[in-house]
Amino acid sequence: MTAISRFIEGLPKAELHLHIEGTLEPEQMFVLAERNRIALPYGSVEELRGAYDFENLQGFLDLYYQGMRVLLEEQDFYDLAWAYLERVAKQGVVHAEIFFDPQAHTTRGVAFSTVIDGLHRALRDGQARLGITAKLIMCFLRHLDQDDAMRTLDEALDHKDRIVAVGLDSSELGHPPSKFRNVFARARNAGFLAVAHAGEEGPAAYVWEALDELGVARIDHGNRSLDDEALVRRLAKAKTPLTVCPLSNLKLAVVTDMTRHPLKDMIEKGLVVTVNSDDPAYFGGYINENYQAVQAALDLTRAQLAAIARNSFEAAFLGAAEKQALIARLDDYVGRGGAA
Ligand code: ADE
Ligand code: ZN
Repeated sequence: MTAISRFIEGLPKAELHLHIEGTLEPEQMFVLAERNRIALPYGSVEELRGAYDFENLQGFLDLYYQGMRVLLEEQDFYDLAWAYLERVAKQGVVHAEIFFDPQAHTTRGVAFSTVIDGLHRALRDGQARLGITAKLIMCFLRHLDQDDAMRTLDEALDHKDRIVAVGLDSSELGHPPSKFRNVFARARNAGFLAVAHAGEEGPAAYVWEALDELGVARIDHGNRSLDDEALVRRLAKAKTPLTVCPLSNLKLAVVTDMTRHPLKDMIEKGLVVTVNSDDPAYFGGYINENYQAVQAALDLTRAQLAAIARNSFEAAFLGAAEKQALIARLDDYVGRGGAA
């Protein structure tokens, strides 16, 4: 391992763009399929992994929704989230803000409470046993209509203390943020913070809408913001964080080659960027593999990597004192030259 890889390994960081259903590794999918007596259309883990060759976002989403059919019981959601936390505890992750897609489960007959009880119990154990703080962000599926999102918000209100924010994900093209204006207004009135996927495949106009019509505090992905100079100025001035996902971008053909990834360009334009893993079981790596991939392709310095980790704490949905404590840990690590 190179010195810079070791530096990344130990760097304290927050993960802010992670779909818990996207952490379902093929091995775990087979275990849960057997436990729940669900037939998978693949004969082996290798065959399933071999199918992870995506042309675009929709090609991935089709497999992602199919894969999560093995999640039925509270314990399944617990096991999923616990496996993720155990894995990233070894990657320097000290805080995680985790997306979940309730509609992808309730439409299959799994109760909202089954999903959130399992996830929340894992997060509590993660804090107690691994020292990772974590929060849940409930995403609305944008390929469904706003009424469906409203009904999901109704259910979420019964669990308000266990959800920090609402988000927006799934098929972006043809489903602009403005479609969800009313449900986001209602969610924010109820006290939820807001984020949205925008500018992954969709145009810069969707990023404007997410900011102006949904009132989001962060943009998930945001790559296409670079097409619009006025938008870049707006994001930089307001210090609106972008949760960038390099390996996801490569696997979903948002970028053709990691050396052409816009992350460095974003940094140079003054944008607040973070590095995240999106759906690591499908895209070939967790958060550190994402840091490693962009570092190697774009020749990022230790100072740039530390600045990205700092951004992840600044951008987190934490109070000022909690952020300061995490940033102090980061400064201490960097001050010791990356020694553990
Ligand atoms: N759901 C899970 N991963 C996603 C992504 N990268 N974009 C949109 N929706 C998603
Ligand atoms: Zn995502």
